[in-house]
Formats: sequence, structure tokens, C-alpha cells
Amino acid sequence: MAKPIFVLNGPNLNLLGKRQPEIYGTANLEDVRRLTEARAREHGVSIDFRQSNHEGSLVDWIQEAREAASAIIINAAGYTHTSVALLDALQAAELPVVEVHLSNIFRRDSFRQHSYISLGANGVICGLGVKGYELAVDALADIIKSRDS
Ligand code: DQA
Repeated sequence: MAKPIFVLNGPNLNLLGKRQPEIYGTANLEDVRRLTEARAREHGVSIDFRQSNHEGSLVDWIQEAREAASAIIINAAGYTHTSVALLDALQAAELPVVEVHLSNIFRRDSFRQHSYISLGANGVICGLGVKGYELAVDALADIIKSRDS
């Protein structure tokens, strides 16, 4: 059985759809899960989709991914701009990683324009809303297939 792609979502993303829809859109996190899962199915891969408001839980899940996942998609939300611990965990995971943001973090407050976790990511997608998650699945499915062939 192939290992799933872990799709990890950070703080406040549980409020998606209600939270600043002019920035983050009207889709809720369950919509994001369904769209991401559908795209993964097209590629013949599976996802394990999670959200936490707690930095330590995200670290635990990245550590779990090291053994249990084929790759990681992460929207670390606010922790993107603060967390060396998440970067350390991603670097220790030794897996393909795509960082996703719904909004274009480069068009927003200056403190959002630096991501600690980008140093641990193969690629970054931002500003494309939910589509960013689907594109991240496309990219990782390619990476996984070329690695395993
Ligand atoms: C976000 C961007 C972050 O700056 C912000 O803290 C979030 C969401 C995004 O998806 O656009 O919570 O990661």
C-alpha cells in the first residue's frame, strides 16, 4: 500500500470560509479537503488531511510523516512566519515538501513576506486559493512517480 501525502494545515484554517473571506475565499476546510482528495485520486495517490491550531501537533505530525507519508503539503498559516521548530521538523523529515498559502503573502503585511519553512520546501505556491492545494498534489505526484520509477 503506497504511503499517503500528508496535507497539514495550521492555526485558524479551521475557520476557513468564515474568516476574512475577501482574503481567504469562501470555501471551507472540508471543501479544500474534498478538492485535494479528488485531485490525489486522479493521480492514484491518497492524502491524509489534518488541521491543528497547535504548533507542537504540527511538529508531531511532520515527525510521523517521516515514516508514514510519501510527501508533505503544508499550509503552516501564522506559524509560517514564526516557527523554526516547523522548519527543523520539515528538514528532518527528508521528504518532498510543498508549502501552500491561499493568499499571496507577498502582497500583504511585510511580516508575512518571510517564511521560515520555505527553507525546508521543494516549492512554494501562494495566492491561488484552493487551487494551490491541487497544484501541490500535481507537483508531488510527479516527484513521487519519478522517485519510485
Ligand atoms: C496563510 C497566510 C498566512 O500569512 C496567514 O497567517 C494564514 C493563512 C494563507 O493560506 O494565505 O493564516 O497561510
